[in-house]
Amino acid sequence: MRADIQGYAQALLPKLVKTRQHLHRHPELSFEEVQTMNYVAAQLDDLGIPYQKGIAGTGIVALIEGPESGKCIALRADMDALPIAEQNEVPYKSLNEGVMHACGHDVHTTCLLGAAEILWQNRSSLKGTVKLIFQPGEEQSPGGASLMIEAGALKDPVPDAIIGLHVFPELPSGYLGFRAGQYMASADEIHITIKGKGGHAALPQSTIDPIVIAANIIVQLQQIVSRRSHPLTPTVLSFGHINGGHVTNVIPEEVTLKGTLRTFDESWRKEAVRLIHEIVNHNCAAWGATAVIDSPPGYPCLYNDEALTASVKGYAEEYLGADYIKPLDMRMTAEDFSFYTQEIPGCFFRLGTNKDNKEYMVPVHNPHFDIDEAALVTGAGTMAWAALSYLLGS
Ligand code: NI
Repeated sequence: MRADIQGYAQALLPKLVKTRQHLHRHPELSFEEVQTMNYVAAQLDDLGIPYQKGIAGTGIVALIEGPESGKCIALRADMDALPIAEQNEVPYKSLNEGVMHACGHDVHTTCLLGAAEILWQNRSSLKGTVKLIFQPGEEQSPGGASLMIEAGALKDPVPDAIIGLHVFPELPSGYLGFRAGQYMASADEIHITIKGKGGHAALPQSTIDPIVIAANIIVQLQQIVSRRSHPLTPTVLSFGHINGGHVTNVIPEEVTLKGTLRTFDESWRKEAVRLIHEIVNHNCAAWGATAVIDSPPGYPCLYNDEALTASVKGYAEEYLGADYIKPLDMRMTAEDFSFYTQEIPGCFFRLGTNKDNKEYMVPVHNPHFDIDEAALVTGAGTMAWAALSYLLGS
């Protein structure tokens, strides 16, 4: 069975390359993946796999049912691209100016279509159901995953587990990376407006200077990380934007700050947001200023279920050989796959995409990002093998 799937996946390479290059040429921004959805739907039509489209706008959910009832496993891919102008001079360069698949979501969608084909051709061996989830908007808050869940993607049937993969230029093609337990951080945006009282810079006594208050707040907020968080719970608070005033001799009315809070513990995450509000409000009050704070909940922590990850890693070792499976470090970046892992056991793993640790080493979100397309065979084949194995309960 394994050799059959490996052979099928290898034979799919030309088709996978064609699919990936089509998607790469026609990238679409988050929640605008209309052509992408229709392209995926057309491929599912060609295969004969039943699906529903238009879920959460541009998402697709498809089901492959085996002859015997059993568990249900969901396989997920994200489909959106980034507002980056591609700088690769390749035949499949983006035709959508200023938009690029720089995070490899074209690869994820292709791997899931490949896995779908392999599973569909082998559906007589399936003990249970495979649910395919093609989601929009991974790159943009509130995250397509949360909208897919709201739209019922995890119902009828409720999957017992979900797995997903992501390109990883730090590993060569043919390799996969796994990490059980805490893997990726939560990410919450923090928007702060400090409202003071403007005036002449030579007469500070008649103003409430929001610039000095902002400076104090930025320094004090870092002490949440150094003094209030548990030293063994990684936490980052970074402000990437500060804006206020224009000239040397005018104190402005207000200053705006925008930042991101990242951590690995859901209860500490809530407490850290509360502390940010408290410190900002108290600082402002101490100097007669006021604050407006907007901190919409972002992506939760991504926790890879220990038992599921051990199983999927085991299937991958059987499929590729143990030498091709590598451990991963925790990452402060975030992924909306975490919304699924809040609902059901999940395993999010990495697909090596460089070539022999020499080519295609450029990180994601870079205008020069690209992959060794041999990785498509590994991604599609492993996804299919993992789903089959999970349903057989081996
Ligand atoms: Ni991504």
